[in-house]
Amino acid sequence: MPVYELIAVTEQEDWDTCHKIRQEELWNAKHLTGYDRNHQGNHIPENISLLLKRDGTGIATVRFDLQNNNTAIIRLVAVTSSEQGKGVGGILNAHILDFAKANNVNKILVNAFIETIGYYKKMGFQEGIWDQDEYQNTRVGMKSVQMSISL
Ligand SMILES: CC(C)(COP(=O)(O)OP(=O)(O)OC[C@H]1O[C@@H](n2cnc3c(N)ncnc32)[C@H](O)[C@@H]1OP(=O)(O)O)[C@@H](O)C(=O)NCCC(=O)NCCS
Repeated sequence: MPVYELIAVTEQEDWDTCHKIRQEELWNAKHLTGYDRNHQGNHIPENISLLLKRDGTGIATVRFDLQNNNTAIIRLVAVTSSEQGKGVGGILNAHILDFAKANNVNKILVNAFIETIGYYKKMGFQEGIWDQDEYQNTRVGMKSVQMSISL
């Protein structure tokens, strides 16, 4: 049985894997340029970059941005392309829910790209605007549907 673990990214090797997956799946695959490894969002202590490893190899990423009121926003969710469509997204989501519970988070928010609404629905998320400003005024928000899940 493969061993999966969701780890907080601290080591340089894990940062390299995390950036590679994000850049390839969330920028290159969507014909975007300008992925910034040093984006200020990665340096905020409440924003925790996580890497899902299978038998020690990083295969999926998520950034878990802790908010007030026992809430977190998940951003930059991506499974490496060779592993997409094989259940890894479901495993990632299960680990995210466990991580949330361990951090006293009882509501998770996401800007879901239109093409991934079906995935989030399968994971139990529901559509509903959670931040009007982010929804209307950011590049990500405008291409997405806001969704959430209560734990
Ligand atoms: C979206 C993503 C994270 C899903 O991960 P995945 O490993 O491909 O998903 P899984 O194989 O675990 O699928 C889990 C379930 O969701 C469904 N699903 C997955 N992607 C879907 C999609 N785009 N639309 C509808 N359903 C989808 C699967 O059919 C599966 O359902 P099942 O349990 O009934 O079989 C992954 O495809 C990905 O990284 N995509 C590119 C980056 C991206 O768009 N990220 C989202 C940012 S908001």
